[in-house]
Amino acid sequence: MAKGKVDALLGIVFGDEGKGKVVDVFTPRYDIVARFAGGPNAGHTILFEGKKFVLRSIPSGIFDENKLNIIGGGCVIAPDLFMAEACELEAAGYDLHQRLHISQRAHLILPTHRVLDRAYEAAKGKAKVGTTGKGIGPTYSEKASRTGLRVGDILDNFRAKYEALKARHLQILADLHYTDFDITDEEKKWFEGIEYMQHFPLTDTETELNRALAEGRNVLAEGAQGTMLDIDHGTYPFVSSSNTICGGVCTGLGVPPTSIGEVFGIFKAYSTRVGSGPFPVELFDETGDKIREIGHEYGAVTGRNRRCGWLDLVALRYAIMINGVSQLIMMKGDVLDDFETIRVCVAYERNGVRTTDMPFNTEGWAPVYRDFPGWQTDLTHMTSPSQFPSAFRDYIAFIERETGTPVTLVSVGPDRAQTISLA
Ligand code: GDP
Ligand code: IMO
Ligand code: MG
Repeated sequence: MAKGKVDALLGIVFGDEGKGKVVDVFTPRYDIVARFAGGPNAGHTILFEGKKFVLRSIPSGIFDENKLNIIGGGCVIAPDLFMAEACELEAAGYDLHQRLHISQRAHLILPTHRVLDRAYEAAKGKAKVGTTGKGIGPTYSEKASRTGLRVGDILDNFRAKYEALKARHLQILADLHYTDFDITDEEKKWFEGIEYMQHFPLTDTETELNRALAEGRNVLAEGAQGTMLDIDHGTYPFVSSSNTICGGVCTGLGVPPTSIGEVFGIFKAYSTRVGSGPFPVELFDETGDKIREIGHEYGAVTGRNRRCGWLDLVALRYAIMINGVSQLIMMKGDVLDDFETIRVCVAYERNGVRTTDMPFNTEGWAPVYRDFPGWQTDLTHMTSPSQFPSAFRDYIAFIERETGTPVTLVSVGPDRAQTISLA
């Protein structure tokens, strides 16, 4: 973590890789932790000293009172959900007010954006994306069509701007014949959230960040979602609506590409996906169920079953390429402790054609597996790589060889303490 640099910590598959845990572990090494994309569609779980938190919009560096946390301009924010999240942290004894700054450029998720999210999903029927229902797509769409409202708008004649945008949304909903909703209570909470947010510094975070970098301070950019959910490079249209990749750090925070230092790519020892869309390594058998059970693979935001499968090196190599990943972090190795055989997808195959490159559409491509003997050892109490069973070491070495990227950190349990450096 060089001084004056922004290191990025990015989910490089379909999200839920364990970004929250590692950002929390890395926070002591940084001056600032910043979210650059996404919003309350994220659910970042942090566990320490017997306490568990699931953060949605607030960066995972928030537990260290000496660090500044920033919600960057590339994010979208729902004031009511932000208030609930922040109040929960305050009730647990964390005073956020001076250590959390919010970009004036972040876009606001209105209650009607969430209704639109549901309406668009309903209209898609079987082709639905399986969104988190947090209004992400409609909010980013309006950002792109230049009709959205931003945090900075709160400070000037806000109610009129809100009512105008809401009226537009109600018209769209009427056109879609989607009228069976009532946002009265939600809207009340939302405006309480607008009031509440004003107790936080609403700042020009890009200037703040660039000044900090010029003074030699360092920043950790906390990714949300994952590369395969990126709007440009993921499995479109079954993606989220922001740039979740390394390029999104620059656009979302307003920092130059030359400021980027290390790029940490975080993945699980196996694969999961929540929501719809192609997923070549998905297991529909008891092995998939076993991974889900042991790994507690249920959505942190929606509680939905996560779809499970073996590690996919086609996706991993692609994400490493797109993001310029310099170090890999492997999570949840412990979930595979009990398996006799562990499989890894090394290529895709369709109609006799084999590829190791990510196809335009992964629909219809079948995984080609290589099998490994499981380590069948409890990893969760291990504290040093010297304790690793040789089969686990071989698994890591194979990933490093196949991706040409070092695995420098391994996580063997959800707790902050269950993290082992290999560097
Ligand atoms: P994020 O969205 O990338 O921050 O990840 P989530 O919090 O949505 O999902 C990761 C889940 O795995 C959480 O429930 C974590 O507590 C848990 N977790 C993280 N690392 C490990 C690990 O190494 N082993 C196990 N068993 N669980 C982990
Ligand atoms: P974190 O940061 C996993 C998925 C949804 C859906 C698609 C679009 O916790 O890793 P959206 O609500 O963004 O319009 O949904 O993206 N999705 C995630 N999956 N982890 C996430 O975040 C996700 N955020 C969105 O399930 O398939
Ligand atoms: Mg998550």
